[in-house]
Amino acid sequence: MNINCIGPLKYPKPNKIPNRLIYGSNSQYRMVDLLTGSYLGKLKVTPTELKNNTFYKNKEPIKSLYINDLWIVPFFRRKNAGSEFVKFAKILSYKEGCKGRLHLLAYNYDNPYQAPHKFWRKLGFASASEKENKILDFIIENDIDVPPDMCQGTFMFK
Ligand SMILES: CC(C)(COP(=O)(O)OP(=O)(O)OC[C@H]1O[C@@H](n2cnc3c(N)ncnc32)[C@H](O)[C@@H]1OP(=O)(O)O)[C@@H](O)C(=O)NCCC(=O)NCCS
Repeated sequence: MNINCIGPLKYPKPNKIPNRLIYGSNSQYRMVDLLTGSYLGKLKVTPTELKNNTFYKNKEPIKSLYINDLWIVPFFRRKNAGSEFVKFAKILSYKEGCKGRLHLLAYNYDNPYQAPHKFWRKLGFASASEKENKILDFIIENDIDVPPDMCQGTFMFK
């Protein structure tokens, strides 16, 4: 008598459910924590064309996604929500034909003395001014504040 044995069934591994969800439309997005339902922050972007830009030094217009607004609820700051939004913005940039380019005005409208420049610099953004980039690298390395003259707003690109 032939007995056919069936080996243990192999189930596909379940997909890991992400802890955070970004949703939105019309260039405005929100992030929520799926475990607690907490609202974490918001992002607003606009595809733009840059002409005669000091960073790209381009003559022909090039497309870059402008980050109009990125804001994380104070309680949830320094927990990577801002970085995750920037990764998402990069995907949007490709989707909008901006080839991954992003730019923004680094300025904290909530509190001008808590300038976000170090956050952007750590994520690889740069000012068109090499001097400003050196200052930012120096203040990150030495853990000091952004100089007041830069707190008024610095265009940064990636
Ligand atoms: C700036 C902001 C978006 C950062 O979001 P976040 O979720 O706190 O940032 P992350 O946790 O992803 O931080 C990523 C890195 O940047 C660093 N970082 C974040 N904010 C920083 C700050 N104000 N100063 C120095 N470093 C900072 C983090 O320590 C982390 O560095 P690490 O990788 O070495 O650990 C958030 O602080 C915020 O909403 N600020 C108020 C609004 C604002 O200024 N928006 C920007 C407008 S241009």
